[in-house]
Amino acid sequence: MDIRAALKEGMAQLRAAQIPAHTLAAELLLMHALGRDRAWIYSHPEESLDPATAEKFLALIARRVAGEPVQYLTGKQEFWGLEFEVTPAVLIPRPETEHVMEVALARLGERGIKIHMDTGAPREKLRVADVGTGSGCLAVALACELPHAEVFATDISAPALEIARRNAARHGVADRIHFLQCDLLTGVTNADSPIVGARHAVPASTRDASQFDLIVSNPPYIARNEAAQLQREVRDHEPHTALFGGTTGVEIYQRLIDQARGLLRDRGILVLELGYDSAEHVRAIFDAQPAWTNIAITMDLAGIPRVLAAERAR
Ligand SMILES: C[S@@+](CC[C@H](N)C(=O)[O-])C[C@H]1O[C@@H](n2cnc3c(N)ncnc32)[C@H](O)[C@@H]1O
Repeated sequence: MDIRAALKEGMAQLRAAQIPAHTLAAELLLMHALGRDRAWIYSHPEESLDPATAEKFLALIARRVAGEPVQYLTGKQEFWGLEFEVTPAVLIPRPETEHVMEVALARLGERGIKIHMDTGAPREKLRVADVGTGSGCLAVALACELPHAEVFATDISAPALEIARRNAARHGVADRIHFLQCDLLTGVTNADSPIVGARHAVPASTRDASQFDLIVSNPPYIARNEAAQLQREVRDHEPHTALFGGTTGVEIYQRLIDQARGLLRDRGILVLELGYDSAEHVRAIFDAQPAWTNIAITMDLAGIPRVLAAERAR
């Protein structure tokens, strides 16, 4: 079988199984099986595939037909222009989560605390937290964007933290990210609680100086009873701890907002990704607390209220 025939066969099988974006999926899986890029594939259509590679490619196609997401098959996903390792232990980073980055960086920029406006040089150390870090996409991308930031990345899942650590190392920011296995921000708030699984133990002096400039989170926000409506790729393959936020899907926000309120410094910024129908509920939590000011909601490209940002009032 040559490259052209393999691609054609892969696309045909995926199309017959009604897999969305079947052309792209077949290309990505062939690139992965061959260890080549798209340009090479299209410039060598008559190159023959050795039997082992052909078998590997067709096995990947079969797994995609059975519902496994392409990203778990290739082991990678791009986020914020960076390549992240992904495994079934972590949520696949989504494009809409890049809005969290945009809003966080815009808020820091407005305040002139991202860089010195006059010289462009980094300012004094920023303290940032990413709650429910998963693959580490937000923590790592923020650490790359903010060379003067010290980042605390929490997750309840030890296997997810392993992947996040690897992604931090891959992008050269592991020395500025503390990974904590804990419930939301509790490992950060309570200096006396043991930090389970924290490979790079965080010194107590660092942990209890709990004044954060920025806290971001894309929490699990899907309601349990919405599981049946999810795509099978999501429901059957992505980690349920990353998807489901409780009975209604919004319970986690109240706890997260309460904890963040106690950890942000005056005018510290909280940026939260929202579920497709949670904006009203989450906004009401902020409106009920005088501790918050400058509250704004940003739409995603589909026009869904996707990101809420607020500042801790002075
Ligand atoms: C929606 S995923 C987001 C992952 C990543 N930040 C992203 O945007 O792709 C939510 C993450 O929160 C973690 N998580 C769920 N409940 C948690 C809790 N109570 N405390 C800390 N992390 C939690 C999950 O393990 C998962 O990695």
